[in-house]
Amino acid sequence: MARILISPFTFLFLGILGLISFPAEAAIKKYQFDIQVKNVSRLCHAKPIVTVNGRFPGPTIYVTEGDRVLVNVTNHAQYNMSIHWHGLKQYRNGWADGPAYITQCPIQTGGSYTYDFNVTGQRGTLWWHAHILWLRATVYGALVIMPKQGTPFPFPQPNEEFEILFGEWWHADVEEVVKRGTNMGLPPNMSDAHTINGKPGPLFPCSEKHTFAMEVELGKTYLLRIINSALNDELFFAIAGHSMTVVEVDAVYTKPFTTQAILIAPGQTTNVLVQANQIPSRYFMATRPFIDVPLAIDSKMATAILQYKGIPNTVLPTLPQLPASNDTQFALNYSKKLKSLNSQKHPANVPLKVDRNLFYTIGFGKNSCPTCVNGTKFLASLNNISFAMPQTAILQAHYFNIKGVYRTDFPDKPPTPFNYTGAPLTANLRTATGTRVSNIAFNSTVELVLQDTNLLTVESHPFHLHGYNFFVVGTGIGNFDPAKDPAKYNLVDPVERNTVGVPTGGWTAIRFRADNPGVWFMHCHLELHTGWGLKTAFVVEDGTGPNQSVLPPPKDLPPC
Ligand code: C2O
Repeated sequence: MARILISPFTFLFLGILGLISFPAEAAIKKYQFDIQVKNVSRLCHAKPIVTVNGRFPGPTIYVTEGDRVLVNVTNHAQYNMSIHWHGLKQYRNGWADGPAYITQCPIQTGGSYTYDFNVTGQRGTLWWHAHILWLRATVYGALVIMPKQGTPFPFPQPNEEFEILFGEWWHADVEEVVKRGTNMGLPPNMSDAHTINGKPGPLFPCSEKHTFAMEVELGKTYLLRIINSALNDELFFAIAGHSMTVVEVDAVYTKPFTTQAILIAPGQTTNVLVQANQIPSRYFMATRPFIDVPLAIDSKMATAILQYKGIPNTVLPTLPQLPASNDTQFALNYSKKLKSLNSQKHPANVPLKVDRNLFYTIGFGKNSCPTCVNGTKFLASLNNISFAMPQTAILQAHYFNIKGVYRTDFPDKPPTPFNYTGAPLTANLRTATGTRVSNIAFNSTVELVLQDTNLLTVESHPFHLHGYNFFVVGTGIGNFDPAKDPAKYNLVDPVERNTVGVPTGGWTAIRFRADNPGVWFMHCHLELHTGWGLKTAFVVEDGTGPNQSVLPPPKDLPPC
């Protein structure tokens, strides 16, 4: 997980000595991912989990901006598999994006597929994960893109870097837990532990030996690449005695700011600089969910240890102060501090004029289910449509013009406006199930307002768009006001990212230019909500130019 960073000068020096060869402009990086079941022991007992190469978390993909990456995935597990490279734009190349039944059919047991993609115009921390069922519970890892050789970070060069991945751990087989929930029409059981780099830390039973430790040296600066791979929890994170300087989110540089704690939603990444400038000792790093609705109380804290070199393991670490579990104010203030760096080298090209205005409401509902415990099952919807997964991948249907797989009549606004965030509503808004998506003209500019509602309950939702970064131009609590709120937008240096939290009982406005043709999934990154149908896709049409259409599919694309 740790990496010593060689300064450009050392690099040059070693290069002159002929000790390392300079990579050509576009190097090809090859990885082999064997999907295999392995017994892994955590929290007092071992259980078989689905892994990549037997590792948990999986291996880091480490590339340089401009590289071509080939990842051969061979599936030896009993489940069908697909892997998503979360946050990579995959220009014209949705075939390598990974969401099952959206851009590809899954890799069947015994099958294999090579994800072949270029890493262009992006650098920073992203990650990869399984994109089928709930398999990403154990199938995930970091994807680190270094800037092109000779291009420094726009912040002080750290001495060393670490990847820090948050996750969740279930005692039981996660797929069984989900199946049981679905059959009963209830949310599946919550995870039994949270983890940092796959390890819960000593505050859980039997887990002293399952503790991640990060060794630091007094006076040095460390870059932490933090990734929230948890399935259902927005998380706070803090380090006892040490502040953090946020320099990047979702592989986009930000205006640096210093904070005692960060907030990170599932799917998001955050790079922070940490200075080892305290009394050499052992300090806890800790993460715990942020939940500002009285739904399920999950206050489990995962810990890891920041340890100064030479300090014995017998020294008891102190815990950091995390914001209270329901600290909405911290969350709102924190998201306000996130701004694009917007420098000459890294400008924020915010679309100023909007071609297409979209307004999507997020709602929960219950459908009748005679076999379920309460006679009902939960479902979630956007504009009253709960998305049904098709049997053929939508990208294939789009590219080969196969009819009957999906419909393109997803509404631009909810069928009937109502007081979205007023008193709790249980009204049946005639939520329909369907595979319905929106067609978007090539290169048009899109504004999408995501509005939370009080249908059954308000809740916060981290929305992720595949194939794009977007600018978060505005956010607020209550109902979005199209007459007043746009005047308050930040169109200068809004944060640019691929996953954004829609606040509990509030709204978030994003903008992007639809310059990447293909089929791009958009969904809540809480696996629970995705599973209930809180998802849709954009079909971005081809442009007329020579390099503006979807590339032909690779020969080994898995069949349906
Ligand atoms: Cu990280 Cu569609 O997901």
